[in-house]
Amino acid sequence: MNFAESPRVIVALDFPDANQALALLPRLNPRACRVKIGKELFVRAGPAIVEACVNRGFDVFLDLKFHDIPNTVAAACRAATELGVWMVNVHASGGRAMMEAAAEAVRLPAATAHPPKLIAVTVLTSSGPEVLEETGADTDVNRQVQRLTRLALDAGLDGVVCSAQEAPRIRRELGDMPLLVTPGIRPAGSAADDQQRILTPEQAVRAGADYLVIGRPITRAHDPAAALEAINAELSGL
Ligand code: C5P
Repeated sequence: MNFAESPRVIVALDFPDANQALALLPRLNPRACRVKIGKELFVRAGPAIVEACVNRGFDVFLDLKFHDIPNTVAAACRAATELGVWMVNVHASGGRAMMEAAAEAVRLPAATAHPPKLIAVTVLTSSGPEVLEETGADTDVNRQVQRLTRLALDAGLDGVVCSAQEAPRIRRELGDMPLLVTPGIRPAGSAADDQQRILTPEQAVRAGADYLVIGRPITRAHDPAAALEAINAELSGL
């Protein structure tokens, strides 16, 4: 993949206010990365921060993990589409009807010339066997990830968020088509922070990831542009 046309790195803008996010944007090249806006920044800064990123030329992954009745999720996905985001996500555990409604909503004509990619969260990496058990899912984490990934693809979604550890198995069983978006990435030598099982950018792409969500190794770097450039150099040619 040529990063100048299709950057793999999605920088997580995990900031508590718009000003900090806006201060980083001029230091990043929208041809070299995309950006992710999650719940905290969105709740604090609203659609304006999404529009600010889009207007500066960034592809935006709106990471709000919708999970609700189909009509509500479809309406939220339609609103995200109209904001001009590049990627949006829902919880696969919301079920087939919810995901089909979301897929239909992002692809409705006239919302945008480029419908966003719609991906699913399967099992949160913070959820272990005990969470599956207490919520009544009578299976193990791997099987639940596999089951929800298949369901998401059957419902017309483009892919899933997964850990890079899960990527090889998903590729083996489901092939090249699903987009795999993986967090938990750390360039060699950088701090793990609170991430547990980390892979380097190169390892994650070799494991089958299409896009890498990377936050603090870039956002807290003394020189974010240089940190991003080093990661893209590591990925070039893969
Ligand atoms: O700073 P860091 O690179 O750890 O940021 C990772 C980003 O990916 C954060 O926005 C975090 O919420 C998100 N994420 C994650 N693990 C998951 C799902 C999302 O770290 N399983």
